[in-house]
Amino acid sequence: MKVTIYLFCTAVLFLGQSRSEPSNKKFPENFRFGVATAAYQVEGGWADDGKGENIWDHYTHHQPDHIANNATGDVACDSYHKYMEDVEMLKNLGVNYYRFSLSWSRILPTGYTNQINEAGVTYYKNLISALKENGIEPFVTLYHWDLPQPLQEIGGWPNPLLEDNFAEYARTAFTLFGDDVKNWMTFNEPQQTCLFGYGLGATAPGASASGIGEYKCAYTIVKAHAKAYHIYDEEFRPTQNGRVSIVVDASWAEPGSDSDEDKEAAERLLQFSYGFYAHPIYHPDGNFPQVMIDRIADRSEKEGFPTSRLPELSTEEIEYIRGTFDFLCLNSYTTNMVKWTNDYAIGAPGYYADLSVSTYQDPSWNNSASGWLKVVPWGMRKLLNWVDQTYNHPEIVITENGFSDDGRLDDLTRINYYAEYLTSILEAVLEDGVNVTGYTAWSLMDNFQWNFGYLEKFGIYQVDFEDPDRTRTIKSSGEYYKSVIANKCLVD
Ligand code: NOJ
Repeated sequence: MKVTIYLFCTAVLFLGQSRSEPSNKKFPENFRFGVATAAYQVEGGWADDGKGENIWDHYTHHQPDHIANNATGDVACDSYHKYMEDVEMLKNLGVNYYRFSLSWSRILPTGYTNQINEAGVTYYKNLISALKENGIEPFVTLYHWDLPQPLQEIGGWPNPLLEDNFAEYARTAFTLFGDDVKNWMTFNEPQQTCLFGYGLGATAPGASASGIGEYKCAYTIVKAHAKAYHIYDEEFRPTQNGRVSIVVDASWAEPGSDSDEDKEAAERLLQFSYGFYAHPIYHPDGNFPQVMIDRIADRSEKEGFPTSRLPELSTEEIEYIRGTFDFLCLNSYTTNMVKWTNDYAIGAPGYYADLSVSTYQDPSWNNSASGWLKVVPWGMRKLLNWVDQTYNHPEIVITENGFSDDGRLDDLTRINYYAEYLTSILEAVLEDGVNVTGYTAWSLMDNFQWNFGYLEKFGIYQVDFEDPDRTRTIKSSGEYYKSVIANKCLVD
């Protein structure tokens, strides 16, 4: 149904009616559209021209059985060599900005600043100038999961020393690229890095110490983010005049019933999954969410730990971290239903035991190719309202949202996903007054989807991974998104 209406909408516009009257289908004039990728997922060239090894190179090469079909990002979309084609695609789509990430180990092969890889610097300088020449703003993520392997060898993110390693890397990036880059994101989805990488051990580096590792990791990351923000503020903002933020991901948590217990459980899940990283930075009071502080301290004491397994932020640290953002960056794809459980058993430490809720997804919701991703557009509107209210009405940029399938060119289900989610976002903006100023489709093109290898395709461009040239072809959803951007118009 959406497809038909979309065709009607564009047909009207193609017929020459350049409508300027206010309409609930129109995005505000200042609204911006972009697409996103990440270095390890698209670049390839994993050992080219002096790039160092990172944890995803290491993980895919040494623990290949964790990845579907033993896939790697060694070549991926080959964007290291084909970035000019990527820029052409971006230009064709008419996006206002391109969100991509820097590979830390391409710029600093060991992770430390004592060795800079000039070829890596040149690659990003070339990409950034090509974008600017085509009127496309670079939105740059400093860390999208690909830690230099030598820094993993000293313990990775649970090691508090990495706060300074990251800060030095950030300073290097601001120095090298900050004249042209005005929108910076320090970390992408720290929940995925910490919970899956250092708690559950399900993704690189595959370290499992649930109930401890993810908390220590988050403690380092929120401080590293804040340090990078302050460095920008003090040393670069006066001349470069850009903006810095952090991307935190959330799925909407819908109470499984009207009961107070289920409502409390849903809120608790949001605090453990999103608030843990967002609250210290975005909330006016700072600090980790109180519900986490209380529950983890209580369980730790009963388990016989001398202190809480959750590191404590000192008053000075809370002050230093809170407010370190210029806009709020949100990634969201789906929704979970949440039930309160009576499962607060004291046993082995573990994130899920600390959280103790149960989640499920409604079987009637439409599927994607990813088990976790069901199509629930109303959840996006609720999430935006919750973020707006919880964090004091910030400016929000949706830095990722998208849908996976098998990679077909005629991807009508993806068009429906975008049409429905964009409708929901527009309702949040126009009817609820949420200040969303940007929307980013994940992804510009099919790419390496972490543990799922190349099985799940998120692109609005198809990439032929059998072809050594990695030929790119626009999908129907690419044409659809192009028309939304050109017209700033949505449909009923
Ligand atoms: C979030 C991540 O930032 C991105 O790397 C990933 O591919 C998409 N979600 C889809 O899972």
